[in-house]
Amino acid sequence: MKPIRKAVFPVAGLGTRFLPATKTIPKEMLPVVDKPVIQHVVEEARAAGIEHFIFVTGRGKGAIEDHFDVAFELNATLDQRGRKADLDRLKQDTPLPGRTSFTRQQEPLGLGHAVWCARDLVADEPFAVLLPDMLHEGPTPCLADMIKERAHHGGQVIAAYEVPENETHRYGILDLKGETEGSPQIRAMIEKPQKGQAPSRFAISGRYILSPKIFDILESQQRGAGGEIQLTDAMVTLMRDEPFHAHLFRGHVYDTGHQLGFLTANIAYALKRPDLAHELRLILKDLM
Ligand code: G1P
Repeated sequence: MKPIRKAVFPVAGLGTRFLPATKTIPKEMLPVVDKPVIQHVVEEARAAGIEHFIFVTGRGKGAIEDHFDVAFELNATLDQRGRKADLDRLKQDTPLPGRTSFTRQQEPLGLGHAVWCARDLVADEPFAVLLPDMLHEGPTPCLADMIKERAHHGGQVIAAYEVPENETHRYGILDLKGETEGSPQIRAMIEKPQKGQAPSRFAISGRYILSPKIFDILESQQRGAGGEIQLTDAMVTLMRDEPFHAHLFRGHVYDTGHQLGFLTANIAYALKRPDLAHELRLILKDLM
């Protein structure tokens, strides 16, 4: 079984839900506490042993590329000022030379199209996809657990979590075979079902381990929900030939693509920080 070495991060979205904040700043650079959302997700990938980070970007997303580069002047200034801890942290966060790639989506045709844009960079090996909007916080990193599960049963692995009935229309929804514990096989999936049509409340949470065969399917994938080329639709086709398992993530998933999810993530992550938690608790009590 080939190892999972590469991860694709689709970061071309315009982030219109966060205007005016995202007029000049990529939405993926908005901070959850003091790290950009995208960095939280890249760290999850690193913790799972990912070696190469592929970003599918678009116009105005240069800050992401700069963020994962060495900031020579900043490092020199921190060094002069004796800020060793800050400097060490920046160095530790920077991927090794040659381990990042950036390609552009050029047209906003949907998630399936964004993933397809990475086909030459991924080439002929299984790979991971991580959607930066979705932060997974649990006892162990989500992608690392998915890779372990794949070692057991092979095939593709999709992470999912339970959402309230009235939110199923916002996600890809899974129909699971048999039990809803561990890593059940997936029978079917549907992208953004209409209200009342969802086969379950298990929503795709934005973490995927896929075979490169998905690229051939995406090549001719017709537009689906929202008039976009959907990754879920291409996975439905691949499912005819290859098994798909769900990784039912039991930690917290924060959908930072919406204001409330973004705010909740900031509070939840800050409450986990020993340097902030106590005072933040007092402030929150006061505000309520
Ligand atoms: C995408 C996927 C969807 C998934 C969701 C998670 O939708 O197409 O299946 O449930 O991410 O955030 P999007 O949020 O891009 O509309």
